[in-house]
Amino acid sequence: ERLVVSGIKPTGRLTLGNYLGALCRFVDVQHEVRCLFSVVDLHALTVDHDPARLRALTREAATLYLAAGLDPSVCVLFRQGDVPAHAELSYLLECTAYVGELGRMIQYKEKGRDRPQTRVSLFTYPVLMAADILAYRATEVPVGDDQRQHLELARDLAVRFNQLYGPVLVVPEMTPAPVAARVMDLQDPTRKMSKEDPDDAPGAIRLLDPPDVVRRKVMRAVTDSGTHVRHDVQAQPGVANLLDILGGCTGETDLNALAQRYASYGSLKRDVVDAVVALLTPLQKRYADLAANAGEVDAVLRRGAERATEIAAPTITAAKRALGLGG
Ligand code: TYM
Repeated sequence: ERLVVSGIKPTGRLTLGNYLGALCRFVDVQHEVRCLFSVVDLHALTVDHDPARLRALTREAATLYLAAGLDPSVCVLFRQGDVPAHAELSYLLECTAYVGELGRMIQYKEKGRDRPQTRVSLFTYPVLMAADILAYRATEVPVGDDQRQHLELARDLAVRFNQLYGPVLVVPEMTPAPVAARVMDLQDPTRKMSKEDPDDAPGAIRLLDPPDVVRRKVMRAVTDSGTHVRHDVQAQPGVANLLDILGGCTGETDLNALAQRYASYGSLKRDVVDAVVALLTPLQKRYADLAANAGEVDAVLRRGAERATEIAAPTITAAKRALGLGG
């Protein structure tokens, strides 16, 4: 049976990258397949964090899930930290994972290795992410391109666990977005747009940015000294990124055809502004309505956590039994 699991880490205000690479695809798939989507708050503890800000960002992200169109009557929405199965399975998987493979994880190499004050949880983070997925026996995981290595690890751990202890876990597939799987920073199109950047970073479009802010950020986006609109990631990364964003917002997947419609960078940018604003305006309106009714979001998350706990229970029981725990 198909089952979709994914999550977003509340470490910053969600960006257009989070939407195009992940969230909009959650919304599309929810009517086809059983889905669980969480705000993965435990993952936000792996780096320096402020508890009050974490709580606010978690609420904002959960509200954005609903505002984007996730329907709690068809999919399960919850906070990771409300479901003990994640941390429990994570420990069991740590007993299957190797220090060597975790040491090769790009995020750890870039943000943590060789620093004595790196939190241990940053090192074990990909194992917790594997638990997020494997606890529900997910078959598909819609994520952006940057999660590829983490998904590979989750698959490796599932295969290894099953080989060592018996067929308990399902090996999941990554389902990347057809376009805009890696939205780049508007000011530096060689690095990905990141919600972890400072709130006022000019290269990241936030889902709650008002139209004038979106316009300013897009019109000031770095392109290059040429004039010809082509989709060439190597030679023209800034222009390629704008085409990716436009394709992601409009559903056009043939980016070469899209490029041919533009005679100048200016006209391309104007259409990007219009497409992004058209996407975000209804979402922001729903966000405002939901934010005025916080109790509703809380109730959704509470019910979601109960449901998620029930769905994970048989896998946790089977994993413990296979490992020789219990009577
Ligand atoms: P996170 O919180 O960094 O990002 C959430 C989702 O957004 C995607 N994404 C992007 N896609 C396109 N362009 C971008 N610039 C961009 N930035 C982010 C990410 O690929 C992701 O799909 N480890 C994960 C969260 C996680 C998770 C999970 C995901 C924890 N457990 C279980 C799926 C299943 C992360 O840090 O994503």
